[in-house]
Amino acid sequence: MARIPDSFIQDLLNRVDIVDVVDRYVPLKKGGANYMACCPFHNEKSPSFTVSPTKQFYHCFGCGAHGTAITFMMEHAGLGFVDAVKELAQGAGMQVPQEEPTVADIKAAQQRAVVESLDLPGVMRRTCEYYREQLKRSPRAIQYLKKRGLSGEIAARFGLGYAPEGWQALEQAFHDYGANPALVESGLVKEKDGRRYDVFRDRVMFPIVNQRGAIIGFGGRVLDGGEPKYLNSPETVLFEKGRELYGLYQARQAIRDAGRVIVVEGYMDVVSLAQFGVGYAVATLGTSTTPFHIQKLMRQSDRIVFCFDGDKAGRKAAWRALENALPMLADDKRLEFLFLPETEDPDTYVRHFGKDAFEDLMERDALPLTAFMLRELASQVDLQSDEGRARLVKLAQPLVTQIQAQALSLMVRKRLAELLGIEADELDRLFGIRVARPSKRGKSAPAAGGKRQPLSRTRQIIQWLLRRPGWAQHIRLPATTQEDPETLAMIALQRALAAQPGMVHAAQVLEHFRDTEHEGLLRHVAAQAMDEKDAFSDDEAWSDLNGLLDQLTLGAFDERIDWLRRRSQSADFTLDEMKELNQLLVEKDRARQGAR
Ligand code: UTP
Ligand code: MN
Repeated sequence: MARIPDSFIQDLLNRVDIVDVVDRYVPLKKGGANYMACCPFHNEKSPSFTVSPTKQFYHCFGCGAHGTAITFMMEHAGLGFVDAVKELAQGAGMQVPQEEPTVADIKAAQQRAVVESLDLPGVMRRTCEYYREQLKRSPRAIQYLKKRGLSGEIAARFGLGYAPEGWQALEQAFHDYGANPALVESGLVKEKDGRRYDVFRDRVMFPIVNQRGAIIGFGGRVLDGGEPKYLNSPETVLFEKGRELYGLYQARQAIRDAGRVIVVEGYMDVVSLAQFGVGYAVATLGTSTTPFHIQKLMRQSDRIVFCFDGDKAGRKAAWRALENALPMLADDKRLEFLFLPETEDPDTYVRHFGKDAFEDLMERDALPLTAFMLRELASQVDLQSDEGRARLVKLAQPLVTQIQAQALSLMVRKRLAELLGIEADELDRLFGIRVARPSKRGKSAPAAGGKRQPLSRTRQIIQWLLRRPGWAQHIRLPATTQEDPETLAMIALQRALAAQPGMVHAAQVLEHFRDTEHEGLLRHVAAQAMDEKDAFSDDEAWSDLNGLLDQLTLGAFDERIDWLRRRSQSADFTLDEMKELNQLLVEKDRARQGAR
C-alpha cells in the first residue's frame, strides 16, 4: 500500500491545532495554560483530561490516555491511521499526497488479494475435524493423552486431535490436495521439488482458536522424545503469534467467574489446568508476552497473574512480560507474577497437588508487578554501597518512567526511594520528573484534576490540633523514624502546643510558626481544616483523634516490623533484632486489640 510521506504528517501536525480537533468532539474549558475536559476515554465526574496547546498533546491524568491529534482521531473516532490523517487534512484544507507505490508494494498487494480470496478458515476447520477423527482411531495417541491425565471431555473442549504418520495424510481430507493453494498458504502443507507433504506428522494436535472461535493455526506435540517437541503453524494472514493467546476462547467464561486470568507458557499447561478445574488459563504461543497480549488480557479481567517456571528461562520470560506491561498498567488493574518451584510447570504442579494447592499458591506467593520489578533490580546491585544505589537509580529510571498509571507510579517511586535511602522528591528530581505541588495559595495543582486528595492520617491529626490546640497536652504521638515533612510538622506542632498552653486559636499557632520550615504545610492544612468536622462535638472529636493516633501507632509498628523482617533476610541479623521483632509482634497484637 502506498504510504503517506512523513514530511506531510509533520506539516499536518504544524497546521492543525489539537485544541480545535479535540474541542469538536469533547468541549474543552481553559484551565491555566492548558485546556481541560472530562476524559472521553474513561468514565469520570471531574475533568482530568488535559490538552496542551504548546505541546500539541493530550494526556489524561486519570486513565493515562495520551497522544497527538492523529492519535486522538484514531482512538476517539475509531479511525485507522490513514483515515485519521485524511480526516484531519480535509479539515485543514490539505490534500494527502500518495507516494508512488513501489513494485514490491504492488506485488505484496496482489499476493494479499489472492490469499484473501482463498478460504483459509474453511481449510483450517476441515483439517481440525480430520485430526479429531484420526485421534479416535489412534490408540497410541489416546493412550498418550490419558497418560497425561486428560479426559475425553477436555480433549473435546480444546478440539485436540492427532496428525497421523505418513507424508500425505491430509490427502484423505482434501481431494484437491495437490492443487489447493490454501493448503500451502495455511502452513499445513509444504512443497518441495514439485511435491507436497504434510507439515504435521505423528503429532498430537492443539488447534489455536481466535476470539471469534475460528481456527487460525495448530501446535503439534510429538508423542515420544522426538525433536522438536512442539511444532507450530507459521504466521499467516490468519495467525499472528504476538496477538493471539492459546485457550482464551475456551477460558472466557471462567475468567469472568474467577475475576482473574492466568498466563502460562505452554499448550499443555492450559489444557491440564482446565482438566483440574482451573479454567481461566491462557498461554502465549512460543513467543514472549507482547503489549498486544497484555491489552487483550486487560480487556478480559482486572487481575492478571503471569505464571512462569521457577528456572532461569522462566525468570527471563517474566521480565520480558514485565517490560511490555509497564506502559499499559492502570491503577485499577492488578498484575502479578507467580514463580513455581524450579522443577515444576503449571501442568505438573496441578497434577501433583491439585487445584486448591495451585490456587493457594497463587494467593500466597504471587508477587505484585512492582515488587517483582524492585526485587529483580535490587538483586543486580550492591545496595550497601553508594555506587550500587546510584546504579539502581539508572537501572530503574527507564522502567519506572514508563508507568503511566499515576498512583502506581507514585507507590513505586516511594518504595524505590526507601530502598535507596533518599526522599521521594529527590528521586523524582534524579528521574527528571516534575511533580505537581500544592501552590502557595493552598490550592491543589491542576494536575490533580481539581479532585480533593484524601488526607493522610498525619494531616488529619494536624487538623485536630489546629482546631483544638489545648488537646496537645493530653495526647502522645507514637515514636517514629519517619522524617517526611508531615510527620516533622506534626511532631513540632504537638510539642509547641504542649509547651505553650496559651495558644488557643489556629491563627496564633500559624503566627508562631511563621518563617519556619513548617509554615507552608501548616497553613495548607489549616485551609483544608475549614470543613464539616468543625461541627463535631468534643466527644466525637476526641474519639476521632484517638482513632487516628491508634492507627498511626499500628503503622509505626508495621514500619519497624517490616524493616526488621527485611533485615532478617541478611546474614548479619542479630539476636537482639530477632528479640525485638518478636516483642514488636506481640505488642502490635496488643495495640490492635486496644484499637478495636
Ligand atoms: P515447554 O518446553 O515448557 O513444554 O514449552 P511444556 O509446555 O512443558 O510441554 P510438555 O508438558 O512437555 O508437553 C512451552 C511452550 O513453548 C513452545 C510451545 O508453545 C510450548 O507449549 N515450544 C516448546 C515450542 O514452540 N517448540 C518446542 O519445541 C518447545
Ligand atoms: Mn510441561
